[in-house]
Amino acid sequence: MTPGLDHVAIAVKDLDVAIKYYVEVLGFPPPELEVVEEQKVRTAIFGHGMGRIELICPTEPDTSVAKFLEKRGEGLHHICVEVKNIEQSLADLKAKGAQLIDQTPKIGAGGAKIAFVHPKGAHGVLTELRQGATQAK
Ligand code: CO
Repeated sequence: MTPGLDHVAIAVKDLDVAIKYYVEVLGFPPPELEVVEEQKVRTAIFGHGMGRIELICPTEPDTSVAKFLEKRGEGLHHICVEVKNIEQSLADLKAKGAQLIDQTPKIGAGGAKIAFVHPKGAHGVLTELRQGATQAK
C-alpha cells in the first residue's frame, strides 16, 4: 500500500512568532503544542489527521534541528509518510539501498514510532517514517 503524507515539518527559530503567522496571517486555528524530549524540540501542530503542518523549534543548541537552522535558516525540514509497520519498512528500505539515519525506531510527537531516512538518496528531502495513530480528532 502506498503511504500517505502524514505531515510536513518546518524548522523555525522562534516558535511563538511562527505560530502567530500561521494563526493570524494564514488563519489556522491554534495549534497543539508538545515538547518532544527525545528529539529536543518544541512542536506546534496545525490540523488533524493526515496532512498536518508541524513547526519545530530546538530546545537546545547543538541538536540536529539547531544545526539545520544555523546552516540553512528557517524552512522545510522534513516530510513524514505514514507506514503500517515501521520495522518492516526500515528493513525494506535498507534492502533497497536507502540510507537510514535511524536503524531502529525512536519515539516522536504524539508517542508514535518514528525513524528518519537521509536526504541523500531521497531526492534532497529528509524523510520521516511514522507508525502510530495520528491524533484522532
Ligand atoms: Co515530523
